[in-house]
Amino acid sequence: MTKFIGILTAGGDSPGLNAAIRGIGKAAQNSFGMQVIGFRDGFRGLMENRTVRLDGPALSGILTIGGTILGTSRDKPEKMPMAGQMLDMTDLMVENYRKHQLDALVCLGGGGTQKNALTLLKKGLNIVTLPKTIDNDVAKTDITFGFDTALGIATEAIDRLHSTAHSHHRIIVVELMGHNAGWLALGAGIAGGADVILIPEIPYDIHKVAEAIRRRSHSDKGFSIIAISEGAKSKEDAALLQAAEEKKANAKKKEEKKKASAELLELVNRQANGTIRLSQRLEELTGLESRVTILGHVQRGGTPSAGDRLLASRLGTACATLINEGVSGVMVAARGEGAEPVPLEEVVGKRKTVPLDHPWLDSARRLGTCMGD
Ligand code: F6P
Repeated sequence: MTKFIGILTAGGDSPGLNAAIRGIGKAAQNSFGMQVIGFRDGFRGLMENRTVRLDGPALSGILTIGGTILGTSRDKPEKMPMAGQMLDMTDLMVENYRKHQLDALVCLGGGGTQKNALTLLKKGLNIVTLPKTIDNDVAKTDITFGFDTALGIATEAIDRLHSTAHSHHRIIVVELMGHNAGWLALGAGIAGGADVILIPEIPYDIHKVAEAIRRRSHSDKGFSIIAISEGAKSKEDAALLQAAEEKKANAKKKEEKKKASAELLELVNRQANGTIRLSQRLEELTGLESRVTILGHVQRGGTPSAGDRLLASRLGTACATLINEGVSGVMVAARGEGAEPVPLEEVVGKRKTVPLDHPWLDSARRLGTCMGD
């Protein structure tokens, strides 16, 4: 009997999503005779029943295209903004899934999407997910698609910043994405030869950073490149944040919790623009001129790398095979050269940050890179 599957992409877009959609769709149709539809704009499209047929012509010519042909959104099934209110819309999503007589729904996304997919799994839908994000922070998979492309873009940016930093004998602080994980800054920092790499996993001491820069300026290297992750914090800021988070977590009464939440929010706002503040302090501490480059969404745009196309194709085709075998409730993880189903429960609620004994960190230190500690 013909199987019907749906696909949606949710959370921030990333290069390789179309390669994955193509991989799932082609394998599902060519190898197993399934029919495939897509839902537009993530979980919102599932709720609003906005679909697109993913037949042969729709899947053709999309391998090299960035973003997602389906569109995406950060809307959550249980907290969907609806006319100024946050409503639980999961029942409507279940209804639409049934209306299309789907045998499985594939959700492509990062940590948040894995959590939202689990919510629908618990409602009785057959769910399979794929791990995508430029942050590479999804648990239980070797790597996520999108990361390799972003790593290439970030590395090229650091390469380009070298000549201008060198010419002006300046400090250049380049901020990279990654949310609360340091994979992008660490990877691009090493590959691009940054002199200082600051990541969320290692709160930095600004005096140690200034010292490393001063040492370089006293040698024949009159410039320094600092690759900093958007989530990196000074030791002081990290301690304050941790205390505020603990206060909120330990608050027992409703009033206490409300007060602690407000204090946490205020602190987060006060700690915003950390990269700009770092650059200004380094000018004061070293007497050198400093400039900031915030790479932002350019890291998520454009053509996926060969590595991401391969990974997305590998996971997408494995996903179709698993659905054909009747597997559900799993994320198709990258494992070595292959793909492996991992129960969604084991993925959700965890974040894969850089372990302090990771070989990349060891390499960075041995290369003489200042890690801010
Ligand atoms: O999760 C991917 C990511 O690009 C993070 O690195 C970044 O913090 C966030 O998304 C930005 O989100 P948005 O595109 O919603 O501004």
